[in-house]
Amino acid sequence: MTEVATSFADAAAEVLRANDRGQRTVAAPELYPHQWSWDAAFVAIGWATLSVPRAVEEMRHLLRGQWATGMIPHIVFTADAGYFPGPARWRTERAEHAPEVATSGICQPAIHSLALYSIGERARRNGGEDAAVFRSFLLDTFDDWVRWHRWLDSARSTHPSGLVEIHHPWESGMDNSPRWDAPCARITVGRMAPYEREDVRHVAAADERPEDADYDRYLWLVEQLVEVDYDDEAARRVVDFRVGDVFFTATHAISADLLATLGEDIGRPAEAAELRGMAARARGAVARTVDPQTGRARDFDMRAGTWIDADTIGGFAALVCGTDHEAYAALVAQLLGPQWCAHPALAHPVPPTVTPDSPTFVSRTYWRGPQWPVLVWLFTWALRHHGHDDAADAIGRAGRAQLGDLTFAEYYDSLDGQALGSRNQSWTAAVALAWAAEAER
Ligand code: SER
Repeated sequence: MTEVATSFADAAAEVLRANDRGQRTVAAPELYPHQWSWDAAFVAIGWATLSVPRAVEEMRHLLRGQWATGMIPHIVFTADAGYFPGPARWRTERAEHAPEVATSGICQPAIHSLALYSIGERARRNGGEDAAVFRSFLLDTFDDWVRWHRWLDSARSTHPSGLVEIHHPWESGMDNSPRWDAPCARITVGRMAPYEREDVRHVAAADERPEDADYDRYLWLVEQLVEVDYDDEAARRVVDFRVGDVFFTATHAISADLLATLGEDIGRPAEAAELRGMAARARGAVARTVDPQTGRARDFDMRAGTWIDADTIGGFAALVCGTDHEAYAALVAQLLGPQWCAHPALAHPVPPTVTPDSPTFVSRTYWRGPQWPVLVWLFTWALRHHGHDDAADAIGRAGRAQLGDLTFAEYYDSLDGQALGSRNQSWTAAVALAWAAEAER
């Protein structure tokens, strides 16, 4: 390993260690002082390069928040202050199926079994104690991960589109993406208790974050879910935001497939077959969303009964879960092309969350244009998994170079390359470690 590679990996490891709180890692030191669901999955992938047992602990801690329905909530709260909305606003104690520990009442993309699979690969390579620790964890928790996918397949895939439906932009993980502009515009915010945002205190400039009007809607949707005590069936009926999320669906598909493979390894063929069925249904749903004009996937607004047109990274969902060979190759070419990675205005040739050619593009505002290293890594993982090594290498090299300032920022301005949002974001450090480990092999 070169000296530069060593200091890159060391600096990333330092971030994870500083954000480590024992069995869980804060998503970011100030902005996100709890354990977030999809953050934890990526963070565990990073931990696995340092310690397989620690990676496993991260996943185990997340499962403490799992609901009796199977849902893995998007936040497992801890006593740390400084984040809004906290447990008092979520009031999940009203829900029949909520766990003992305080959690939020919604979920996030299903990256978890992809993380498990990736930790398992590392454990197998290390052998010895690491392999034993991973296997024992998998045997202990396999049913919990299956229950998560079953819930997504039953409670959240009832719409004829077959897409996983979400009831809050936060469930997509891409909060203020232009993907949600149209469905959000139709939400009428009702009366609710006043609140004060915490997030804007932890960033250099408020325009890096969603707007106040977005937050009003976010909090209003929480009120609507509390009103029905987070009952899945009632939520589908009452919530103002009901959207088929194609990217979430793709994560469910690939994770269900990888969990099936893990299930086959531990002698659970019946569950593996069930998971393959869920994966096939979800992958089929993703394929059916494709806009014939653009070749990209679309979300579906279930309240309005319309497809959502938005020039976002969500359109590349099929790259994550896989699709037929020809369609996949065409999408890779598009991702590498002049509207996306090779857009001449970009500071780094990695996918922006919105193409700079879109009228909705804002280079520095959260999910409306910046480049997010965690997503860049996910695409490199997926491209490699689906046999497109050259594309994975090209994007991975650029993604790694973007992290050369060692700030491990949450996201980066697509045009001037400035670090934005939180610094020392755990999942950014985690994917840096994953890239560094790949380069070593
Ligand atoms: N991303 C959200 C936030 O900014 C919550 O998941 O707080």
